[in-house]
Amino acid sequence: MIATLATSIKILTNNEFSADVLNKIAVYSGVETGKILFIVDPMDFLIRDSAISEFSTLRDVEKMNKIVPNPESTNIDEMAEIARKIMPSIVIAIGGGSTLDSAKAVNMLINNDGLLDDYLGPNPYRSIKNKGQKLVLIPTTTGTGSEATRFGVYTSKSGRKYTLASDFLYGDIALLCEALIAEMPASLVAVSGYDALTHALETIWNKNASTQSDLLAEQAVVDVFCNIKDAWQESVDKSGSKKKFSLLLAANAAGIAFNKTGTAAIHALSFIISEKWHLPHGLACAFFTDSVYEMNSKKPEVAKKLASIAVKGGVASIHDKEQIAVEKFGKSLLDLRAEIGLIGKFAEIKGFDPTISQDEIVESFLPSMDDPKMKNNIIPMDSKYLWKIVKEKL
Ligand SMILES: [Fe+2]
Repeated sequence: MIATLATSIKILTNNEFSADVLNKIAVYSGVETGKILFIVDPMDFLIRDSAISEFSTLRDVEKMNKIVPNPESTNIDEMAEIARKIMPSIVIAIGGGSTLDSAKAVNMLINNDGLLDDYLGPNPYRSIKNKGQKLVLIPTTTGTGSEATRFGVYTSKSGRKYTLASDFLYGDIALLCEALIAEMPASLVAVSGYDALTHALETIWNKNASTQSDLLAEQAVVDVFCNIKDAWQESVDKSGSKKKFSLLLAANAAGIAFNKTGTAAIHALSFIISEKWHLPHGLACAFFTDSVYEMNSKKPEVAKKLASIAVKGGVASIHDKEQIAVEKFGKSLLDLRAEIGLIGKFAEIKGFDPTISQDEIVESFLPSMDDPKMKNNIIPMDSKYLWKIVKEKL
């Protein structure tokens, strides 16, 4: 996989998951002594739990399972306080994006002072000075790409979501394991897969795009797009895990791609949706994908890339005019979103108050304009366009 050449993280793949696999990873990490701290979510997960339990007969193991969705700084500070006392030689996180992001922050705080909020926001009180302990990231969902990035997303005590970026947040090893994603429910494949799709798209229409990021992202968009529907259907039918594993590989490649550029308008807007209506990250990202696609595809260099992707993704012909190919791909993204059960109208959000005024909704999205992710977007978003896209969603 070309993407693995573009990252310093050692990315391993394996079909099975067991204590033996964990032991091999620990040996591969080069740290043969000391405690190993597992960070996982509180849900029962037989294959993961039995592997950790058996592994604990081989090595000195501690386990934390206090992960919450949309990781909160208070929760991470509590885990970090305990982790500093444990002082593990290796931290191994097994889970979805919230688990991996939480582990990145906990591991960072082991070797850096203060609380997580000290490092968040536009003018943080502290900067990250030290690398954490050896970090192993093992995703159990097919989308966040967190195992491949220097980013973590956290909700501060103020309730605002922030992206924290640092080379000291990188994992050392990532394991992409088919057995761990085999039982994913279809709804989770949908939200995490669409999140991966937006990671690759936001790399395409990013101000920081380069020849290398384009190469990675164009392939990642095609690979995610071509696998997401089949992977979702595979979960609906309970017919195996091959397509989900292909989606996991594509999502990892999308992570390696957007790690080069950061994300853009879709993600800046999604943070507000998650803050206000508590939607899962992937669902919030899918919401404005069509609006941002339409806006950014007006830029000629973006249209050229999207037209090429449309052909490679099999939704347009090589004989189609560029504009037609772009429109066809835009429509296919919209169709895909509906087919796998994701939403694109405010009325479809659970708990949305239909009496809320349009002005009030637009106002709630205004903080996204100051988000550094929004500034990565190739076309600047202004309040006039924000007003337009919100209106279209009502
Ligand atoms: Fe995302």
